[in-house]
Amino acid sequence: MSGSEAEAAAELERLAAEIARHNALYYQQDAPEISDAEYDALVARARDLEARFPALRREDRPWHRVGAPPAAGFAKVRHGVPMLSLDNVFGAAQFAEFARGIRRFLGLPPGQALRFTAEPKIDGLSVNLLYEHGRFVRGATRGDGLVGEDITANLRTLKDLPLRLEADAPERMEIRGEVYMTRADFLAFRAAQERAAEEREARRARGEKLGEAVQVPANPRNAAAGSLRQKDPAVTAARPLRLFAYGLGEASALPADSQSGLLDWLARAGFPVNPLFRVVESEAEAEAFQAEMESRRASLDYEIDGVVFKLDRFDWQQRLGFVGRAPRWAVAWKFPAEQATTRLLDIEIQVGRTGALTPRAVMEPVVVGGVTVRHATLHNEEEIARKDIRIGDTVILQRAGDVIPQITGIVPEKRPPGAKPFAFPHTCPACGSHAVREKEDVVRRCTGGLTCPAQRVERLKHFVSRRAMDIEGLGEETIGLLHAEGLLASPADIFRLPARREALLALEGWGEKKVQNLIAAIESRRRMPLERFIFALGIRRIGEQTAKLLARHYGTFETWRERMIAARVPGSEAREELGAIQGIGPAIAEELVEFFAEPRNLAALDDLAREAPPLPAEAPAADSPIAGKTIVFTGTLSAMTRQEAEARAEALGAKVTKSVSRKTDVVVVGADAGSKAARAAELGVRVLSEAEWLAIARG
Ligand code: IVH
Repeated sequence: MSGSEAEAAAELERLAAEIARHNALYYQQDAPEISDAEYDALVARARDLEARFPALRREDRPWHRVGAPPAAGFAKVRHGVPMLSLDNVFGAAQFAEFARGIRRFLGLPPGQALRFTAEPKIDGLSVNLLYEHGRFVRGATRGDGLVGEDITANLRTLKDLPLRLEADAPERMEIRGEVYMTRADFLAFRAAQERAAEEREARRARGEKLGEAVQVPANPRNAAAGSLRQKDPAVTAARPLRLFAYGLGEASALPADSQSGLLDWLARAGFPVNPLFRVVESEAEAEAFQAEMESRRASLDYEIDGVVFKLDRFDWQQRLGFVGRAPRWAVAWKFPAEQATTRLLDIEIQVGRTGALTPRAVMEPVVVGGVTVRHATLHNEEEIARKDIRIGDTVILQRAGDVIPQITGIVPEKRPPGAKPFAFPHTCPACGSHAVREKEDVVRRCTGGLTCPAQRVERLKHFVSRRAMDIEGLGEETIGLLHAEGLLASPADIFRLPARREALLALEGWGEKKVQNLIAAIESRRRMPLERFIFALGIRRIGEQTAKLLARHYGTFETWRERMIAARVPGSEAREELGAIQGIGPAIAEELVEFFAEPRNLAALDDLAREAPPLPAEAPAADSPIAGKTIVFTGTLSAMTRQEAEARAEALGAKVTKSVSRKTDVVVVGADAGSKAARAAELGVRVLSEAEWLAIARG
């Protein structure tokens, strides 16, 4: 405990940095690392320290500010009236205290009844919508409460947002509301993002181009926040965002004289207003409404984390004003954190489509926030070790507004004697292959990609794809079907399909012609160049370029296979040889070695090579004038396509690159060549015309 002021000062510094970091994660990156309850606990600790050591209080500490400063990228907008936040109460006694404070301030007798509006507190993102002459002109996020981000273009795409008001409106007014995503929409959206992330991971594994990162949101609030902050409004438009309006900011005139009147007006003007709002006339009614909402919470289609009570009369709101960052006339009566403890019965390991091993907690069923929970993700093995979670432990489960329950920790006193640290498996539970974790990666992956049932279909799809074995008529759907029918389990099986005509003909909707075509397509790909064959295997990190390098270097399948097996021994001559190939880094070498170290892969590979023996790599003609040279093509060639020219140059033993540098030996200049030709001249690199190139190309 921080008994001394010096200790308290040090801890406040630490908390300031920590809370600032979590603010940035939450508000700017929409990627919180801790639950709301954990965050609240940090803030409570900081406030408590400041209360005990008032001399240490500093106004610029992150917990004295609302939200976070606007992120870079969007224009900044100053709100006409600051967007403040609400103080929280957690029970009837605290609510009664809030009501007493109002009476005291207004000089009302203690018995005087107060009328409040009670509105579900939507767990979304507050926005400020500016209307002029009844038209929507600008929309902004809350930002730090004073200045937000201009997200007008994105907000315009919301179907719930009226672009033109239907009721008589003051000349200029700011409408405040909450943008959110329903649970159902969130679940569908998250599933789609997960698929996209897996697809991206699969592309990474194949060494292909990646495109933009895919965010998998943890809860509807993050999903809504991320969707609103898109650079491209078309992306926002495709997201299922909803809106509830509930308040007024700056206004040239008031459209009503009470909060309940305002809500009516908002509905008439065309805004969605939460239909559950109620007017309550006493503290007792407030408590009853709060209890009702808490019991209905789990069955609502959107997330709420409490009830907002606002004193109904605007003239009284006016007199009460604000204290610090919150109004005196409103309060958020929050639901208790959705926490529960239960026993961890087991840790299951699931294998994803790309071979990632993910641990999942299996627990004694427990009700958290009205929902029965049996499973929770444990993310990865490091997470289990960090939280020291052991089977048999009593774990603390938290829903805290999140749809997906999290295990936030364990209860050490309840650990059964003899509980051992969890031994994360080093073999794949789906296929038995060894599972490895690369340096600096938190994920352990199965290496038996070719045979692992969890990854099989994905690998087969890649195997037949256009840039790999290019088998026409064997698309993703057909692969799925043939796999489900038990006709396909490994790449070699594809080449056994021609012998299974009858089984194919028996498939629903498969006629003679279709089967014929498929068999012909398969036969035409039985002998593919070694580089295509290697790429088709879908070994992690072995993209087309790397496959080409390997095929060139080793020449034949047999040599490649033999040298890869030999390379398993660290420091061996074969390992050195592999590492010395230009363009093959240690990470790639490691993947190759891992692939060949798995006997299941070797068996599947040999099986495949028997069915579809790859052709030896074309030996580059050593006598060509460009053998061993680095060559760049620029401009348009008339006699052949760029792709053709590059392939020909490679076949002649040249290395093709895209940009001209000091390492370039030859630049072939076609029509309309631009900066590359100029750069070649500047560097004194040898330049060839198309005619000169053709002379070489045609030998
Ligand atoms: S009124 C000065 N009403 O809760 C009063 N807020 O902690 C400002 N919220 O930033 C808020 N539903 O994001 C209000 N019916 C509601 C609300 C609501 C959700 C959010 C909003 C606000 C935060 C306040």
